[in-house]
Amino acid sequence: MSTLLDGIAELVSNEPGLGEGPLGLVRDAALVIEGDRVVYAGPRRGVPAADRRVELAGQAVLPGFVDSHAHLVFAGDRVAEYAARMAGQPYAAGGIRTTVAATRAASDELLWAGVARLVTEALRQGTTTIECKSGYGLTVADEARSLRIAREFTPETTFLGAHVVPPEADPQSYLDSVCGPMLAACAPYARWVDVFCERGAFDAAASRAVLAAGIRAGLLPRVHANQLGPGPGVQLAVAAGAASADHCTYLTPSDVDALASSDTVATLLPAVEFCTRSPYPDARRLLAAGATVALATDCNPGSSYTTSMPLCIALAVRELRLTPAEAVWAATAGGARALRRDDVGRLGPGARADLVVLAAPSHTYLAYRPGVPQIAAVWQGGQPV
Ligand code: NIG
Ligand code: FE
Repeated sequence: MSTLLDGIAELVSNEPGLGEGPLGLVRDAALVIEGDRVVYAGPRRGVPAADRRVELAGQAVLPGFVDSHAHLVFAGDRVAEYAARMAGQPYAAGGIRTTVAATRAASDELLWAGVARLVTEALRQGTTTIECKSGYGLTVADEARSLRIAREFTPETTFLGAHVVPPEADPQSYLDSVCGPMLAACAPYARWVDVFCERGAFDAAASRAVLAAGIRAGLLPRVHANQLGPGPGVQLAVAAGAASADHCTYLTPSDVDALASSDTVATLLPAVEFCTRSPYPDARRLLAAGATVALATDCNPGSSYTTSMPLCIALAVRELRLTPAEAVWAATAGGARALRRDDVGRLGPGARADLVVLAAPSHTYLAYRPGVPQIAAVWQGGQPV
C-alpha cells in the first residue's frame, strides 16, 4: 500500500539534487511512501498516484531527527547534583559513579522501562533514530545486560565500558577487562565501541587500546573527545578512523584541521554546555574549516538530561551560531553521517520513511519558537507513530 503526503508547505529532503540549498528544500511538495521507504519526494505537480492521501496543508516535513549520542540505560537521577551545579558547583565526570551504583542495583525490568520511557519521549519529539551507549554498569555482567536491553530498542548500540574506572577496580586490571572479557561479552550486542578520553577518565594510551580491541572484535569506533579540556581525543579518533568525535568543546587549530581533513564527524552536544553551564564549542570554526558537524542530545542523568533534538537545534542556532538550516542539517543528515547511515537523515527515493511533520510552515520555526511543542506527527518506517 502506498501513501501520498500532500500539500507540504516545505519539504526538507537533505538531497541537494531535489531542491534548493544543502537542505534540498522543496516548497509546495509531496512525498509518496511505499512500505517503509520513500518512493517520491518533490513538487506536488508530477506526483505519482497512491492508494491513500494525507493532506498536510501548511505544514513542513523534515527527516526524522537522528540522535547519534545518548546514554539511556541507567537508574536513578542526579537532580541534587544538578541543583548544586546551578548554585555554583562545577560539573565533574565523577558523578558518573553515582549512576553506576544505582544502575547496578536495578532490575533488568527497571532498566528496560527507563529506556522505553526515554525512547518514547524522544520519538514524540521527532527522533526516529537514536544511538544508545552502555557505560553505567562497568562490570562484565552489567555492561552486557545494558547492551542487551539497549539492543531491544535500537540497532545503534555502543559499548562504553571505558566510561570511567569504577571505584572498586584497579585502573590497569579494569582496562584489561574492558579490552578482554567485557568486550567479548558485549560485542554481540553492540555496533560501536566508544571511550571517554579525558583527564580523570581514560588517557591516550588507554583510549587507543580500547578502540583497537573494539575494532578487532568487529566494532566501529567513536570517541568522547575534548569535552572538559584540551586533550588527545580528537586526534586519536581521526587516527582510528572513528565515525565521530563527540563534544569537541576544547579544540586546537590542529584538532580542527584533523577533523576537516577526515570523514570523522564533529558531533556537538550543546545541551551539555547548557545543563552544566559551561562554555559552548566553537562550531563556526569547525564549519569554516570544512568539518562535518552533527548535533545530538547526549541524554544522560548527569550532564544533559534531555531527549529533545528541537532544544538542541534552538541552542545550536542561538549559542553555537549555526543558521537554522545548518542546525537542522546537523540534527538529521549530520547525525546519519555520524552513524555511517545513508538510509536515514534524508527524504529522497530509497530512504527510510522516517519523518517529522511540523506544526509550522518551515524548518526555521524549530529555532524561531524555542520550547514550543511543534511536532504535529512522526512517521517511522512508513507508519505514523
Ligand atoms: O557524555 N562524558 C562522559 N559521559 C557523559 C556524562 C555522563 C554523566 O555525567 O553521567 C557525557 O557528558
Ligand atoms: Fe556522552
